[in-house]
Amino acid sequence: MTNSVIYCFSATGNSLSAARRIASRLDAKVIPITKETSLDCSADQIGLVFPDYFMGIPKIVSDFLEKISIQQKDPYMYAVITYGDSPGGALNLVQSILSKRSLHLSYGKTIKMVENYIPMYEVKPENPSDILHKADIVCDEIASSVLYGQRITIKPAVPFISKIVYSMYLKKTGEGDRNFVVEESCTGCGICASVCPQKNITIADKKPVFNHDCTHCLACMHWCPSESIQYGKKSKIHKRYHHPEITLKDMSL
Ligand SMILES: Cc1cc2nc3c(=O)[nH]c(=O)nc-3n(C[C@H](O)[C@H](O)[C@H](O)COP(=O)(O)O)c2cc1C
Ligand code: SF4
Ligand code: SF4
Repeated sequence: MTNSVIYCFSATGNSLSAARRIASRLDAKVIPITKETSLDCSADQIGLVFPDYFMGIPKIVSDFLEKISIQQKDPYMYAVITYGDSPGGALNLVQSILSKRSLHLSYGKTIKMVENYIPMYEVKPENPSDILHKADIVCDEIASSVLYGQRITIKPAVPFISKIVYSMYLKKTGEGDRNFVVEESCTGCGICASVCPQKNITIADKKPVFNHDCTHCLACMHWCPSESIQYGKKSKIHKRYHHPEITLKDMSL
């Protein structure tokens, strides 16, 4: 029997929902990517499911890919990247990171889902049921492709425009969390700390403190029940989002 795992990173549940759907068809185990995820992997079928960030990939995922220790000689590796509007060269970036370690993606696919980058945009579409239904169908197609061991060529060369856009993302990580503003409406409930995959938030005097190791995923903003966390001038007027089938309990790490 194939020993199959899916490493998943997700801030608002789109990627987690996709990972679970694909895993159910492959009989794979879903493992969340956090700072504490074990780096030892002995599986022979290895999936990676996560969102697109600034036409590239979340820093927490690139850090993971740079360190994961894979036991099998030539595992079947595949990546599934959820996105809102335009995925850019995110799959190329994964291939580029892996190829520096003499690993490679055998297969990869992007899935259009709901846009959640609220510092700049509205959550769109407003009614996500159609797009999420289509995403489910794509997940089923991906699972079939992986089951059949389909192989495609993904070049490691990242397009120039994606490189430029991605460099803007990297500046927002780490100490970029100094730009978060917590409003008076914060109740000190601690939910932001519980969903933070980087363990970057501590609660002191009933307020969140950001500890400058941020991956800029916005889970804290989206899951705060009183919408008290803002980033930039536009986020206050933008609605918060999470995938309708994913609950806070699924996200708490
Ligand atoms: C920091 C950040 C950057 C993003 N950049 C892009 C992008 O360049 N292109 C795009 O299509 N979607 C972008 N998105 C939208 C997400 O990729 C999309 O909403 C994804 O499905 C969220 O997955 P999740 O619910 O698993 O976190 C971005 C979201 C965030 C938080
Ligand atoms: S989730 Fe919101 S209300 Fe709760 S502690 Fe964090 S910022 Fe405050
Ligand atoms: S502080 Fe917020 S944006 Fe930064 S990693 Fe944690 S949850 Fe994500």
